[in-house]
Amino acid sequence: MADLVDARIETFAIPGARVVHGKAFPLGIRVKGGQAFEDIDSAVAHIDQLAEQGTLDDLLRDHGTILFRGFPVTDASDFSRFVQAFRLPQQHQEVGLSGIRTMVNGFVKTANEEPSDVKFYYHSEYGRSAHFPNVLFFFSEKVPEKGGQTPLLSSIELYDELKKQLPDFVQALADKGVIGRQYFPSKDDPEAAHIGWNWHDSYGFDIKEDDSIEKQHRKVETVLRDRLQADGEWQDKNGALYVLQRLPALRRVASTGKPTFFNGLMGVYGRARDNQALSPPYKGLDGKYHLPTTYGDGSPIPYDTLDKVLEIADSIGFLVPWQEGDVAYIDNYMTQHARTPWVGERSLLVSLWDSKEKFVKY
Ligand SMILES: [Fe+2]
Repeated sequence: MADLVDARIETFAIPGARVVHGKAFPLGIRVKGGQAFEDIDSAVAHIDQLAEQGTLDDLLRDHGTILFRGFPVTDASDFSRFVQAFRLPQQHQEVGLSGIRTMVNGFVKTANEEPSDVKFYYHSEYGRSAHFPNVLFFFSEKVPEKGGQTPLLSSIELYDELKKQLPDFVQALADKGVIGRQYFPSKDDPEAAHIGWNWHDSYGFDIKEDDSIEKQHRKVETVLRDRLQADGEWQDKNGALYVLQRLPALRRVASTGKPTFFNGLMGVYGRARDNQALSPPYKGLDGKYHLPTTYGDGSPIPYDTLDKVLEIADSIGFLVPWQEGDVAYIDNYMTQHARTPWVGERSLLVSLWDSKEKFVKY
């Protein structure tokens, strides 16, 4: 068990935090009264020392998420220095695109640039991919007038609740895993511009101008297999590509042995439901395609089960009450996050990292 004994900073209880396996989720860490850091340099030096002792690793493993408050982090440059002080092994290299992001500096990106009225449902970051970060930092640079909190839940608690309330679903996920599907139009499809991507630009790195369509398909399939362990399904009617990603939906955290609900199931389903895209051809009100995730044998996951999963998630969720300058340190293996709509101007920055934590087989 990790404790924080420190002259300048202390843990604090965040109102509304949950208790998961006897630990606060999330844990708050703030600067003690009268101990304010004079500048970002002194704060970084202090964090760096705690990281060296392993204290931060221990606390994150116990709590899943830590909210840092009262540190002199004011902009992207401070945030970039702050996150580097945690001594994580390396910055995470993203493969494939999970959303619209802009690089702010070497370590920091915008969280997502989709319109402020779009709700994101709970997901593990890159939980639909075979390549995902272990740790995320969020920095609240600017808090909007209304809304814009970041919902978090403990994926460990969610696993426990699902096992209790939907045991057959958990068993089916354990037995079969899932297949996620993503829609890529062909480049010359008039819809491609609206959708924002096409298979040629996303995976056609090796395609030459005079390649036949069959040859182009083979080259794309090779990229999918080698880089993403994914399969392609070509659609005769319009030349679109479905990318199929077979993944486990449940995993076990190596350091604690705890099972966790790690996937993108809720994110995909919630958005499809909001866009009334729950039946073929799965085209939504937003003009985009929302292909359903199925069990690993191709059988459908019943929508009433997924409705219940979203309900259970909401019942254990926690809304981060952002204040300007807050930094959340999130273990992606143990925490799912979401996004609430907002009114006004908001800036939330993100930094993704790999750590020493591993998954072992569920
Ligand atoms: Fe995300």
